[in-house]
Amino acid sequence: MEKFLVKGGNTLSGEINIGGAKNAAVAILPATVMARGRCVIENVPDISDVRVLLDILSQLGAKIEMLSNDTVAIDTTDINSNEVPYELAKMIRASYYFIGALLGRCSEAHVSMPGGCNLGVRPIDQHLKGFQALGAEVTVDGGIIHAKADRMLGSHIHFDVVSVGATINVMMAAVRAHGITIMENVAKEPHIVDLANFLNSMGADIRGAGTDVIKIHGVDMLRPSTYSIIPDQIEAGTYMVMAAATGSSLLIKNVIPKHLEAITDKLISSGAEVEEFDDSIRVTGGKVIKKINVKAMPHPGFPTDMQPQITAMLCRAEGTSIITEGVWEGGRFRYTDELKRMGANISVDGKMAVVEGVSKLTGAPVRAADLRAGAAMIIAALTAEGTTEIEDIHYIERGYENIVAKLTAVGADIQKIIVPDGDSMRQAQ
Ligand code: UD1
Repeated sequence: MEKFLVKGGNTLSGEINIGGAKNAAVAILPATVMARGRCVIENVPDISDVRVLLDILSQLGAKIEMLSNDTVAIDTTDINSNEVPYELAKMIRASYYFIGALLGRCSEAHVSMPGGCNLGVRPIDQHLKGFQALGAEVTVDGGIIHAKADRMLGSHIHFDVVSVGATINVMMAAVRAHGITIMENVAKEPHIVDLANFLNSMGADIRGAGTDVIKIHGVDMLRPSTYSIIPDQIEAGTYMVMAAATGSSLLIKNVIPKHLEAITDKLISSGAEVEEFDDSIRVTGGKVIKKINVKAMPHPGFPTDMQPQITAMLCRAEGTSIITEGVWEGGRFRYTDELKRMGANISVDGKMAVVEGVSKLTGAPVRAADLRAGAAMIIAALTAEGTTEIEDIHYIERGYENIVAKLTAVGADIQKIIVPDGDSMRQAQ
């Protein structure tokens, strides 16, 4: 079993370079199948979700060539399958983007129900509603989603809820539908805009991405392109919160400061100093962390994927903070039990967590309940007295590239260890 061992109390200083956005990469990589030929994708994050997607592409018949650490060439000329098998689909949520992408490429897709982080119920009814509106026949049978359309036709689709996944999936299919598609009540996250820009670079005609309404003129074919993924808003936000939580100063490079505004705003209210530059941002933690209230909402609100991290910081704030989860039904607060093991004082009632600041947290054995919950454990551990052992770090590695190296370089005491069953701890490579 692999774990992180984190010794708290160090002040961090220096620079951290942010990688490409996970949630954009997991949409853009499947979208490469929509054009026949060789796409080159740059600024690809080195995370396990990306490795699974490249495996799926390879199984479909694409040729994958890593041109550098963060650049991959994907040649989709010989794609010969429209099936994403259970073994791979179950590993990540984003496997369902192959439904939209394969519908666009070959009018037919068979994809096992997706896996991913357990954030409560994760329905896909809005994805299916969108495909059906475009004329696809969609059935779910034996855990497999089958989608088929002899001819997709542009349509007017109003989503019942704002969904990142449904917006991305239906946008991909609609690019190849005949005529005009209007998608209303869509998600506006930066990665929606990034996918639209990528598809447009391949010859699609998508307008309005980043607003509530997306208008798509269907096209007959797409051509391969070279494209660079935007920086990861959530990876950047996580390191920003780490600086504020530990009273440190970090320069976070390769970011788009505009994408970080909701996070910047909350950190300033909590007493940190934030300086914005063209493509970097410096966060300097204050002497004390002030209480704040945070409500996670779809973009441009405070991102739900930053909710656990900011809660971890507020465990040591002066006074009582209230955190409300406005995206996920189940509340997305399971990780708070782990923070309580470290001495945090948090009570959860449905979609709301009340965090009474305590003067100190203490290192304890904890687990990463999901990807962002895992990041929250690292933040709490960095501010705690003593050593914290974090289990289930495979969740963290789904979305944070080289996190041990990046944190060690700025002065954190974190190491990855392997604990073989029935053996004593030994250090990992
Ligand atoms: C994506 C992100 C995830 C982030 C979330 C919200 C990826 C791989 N994951 O997830 O990290 O937390 O956006 O920013 O990009 N819903 C429905 N029906 C649907 C789809 C969604 O009711 O068909 C509901 C969900 O239950 C949830 C809300 O809509 O309450 C938001 O879900 P959605 O935006 O689709 O999240 P994901 O795309 O799964």
